[in-house]
Amino acid sequence: MMDRRSFVRQVAGVTAGIGCLSMAAGCAGLPYVAAEPVDRGLRVNLLDLAELDYALLDVGAGVAPIFLWRSPDGFTAVSTRCSHRGCTVSPEGEELACPCHGSRFTFDGDVLEGPAPTDLTRFAVVQDADHLIIESAAP
Ligand code: FES
Repeated sequence: MMDRRSFVRQVAGVTAGIGCLSMAAGCAGLPYVAAEPVDRGLRVNLLDLAELDYALLDVGAGVAPIFLWRSPDGFTAVSTRCSHRGCTVSPEGEELACPCHGSRFTFDGDVLEGPAPTDLTRFAVVQDADHLIIESAAP
């Protein structure tokens, strides 16, 4: 059986590799954290986010990662699937940028610049003492 630390390393390596294939630039060094499927969605250990302002969550093969951001008002979670044609957006400076046609979004998913017609898909985030639950985000 794989211990938790090995699982995090393995998920980080695999998902970073997959993400680098789909993102044009800037994927090196993006922090990935493990997410465990639970009844309500995905559960993330807060210790994994202790020193991060944002992180990407692996959601499963063929599904765009979730961008999790520690906003001034708490954590937000959005899909990295661009609402234009489905490319994977990634953080650039203080925005999420799409490498395919140049759409830009805020870290909590609002469209700043098209051609994306709508905001990124948002997920409710519930926090307890030790975890975040990203609701209805399990594949
Ligand atoms: S797919 Fe993102 S701007 Fe076209």
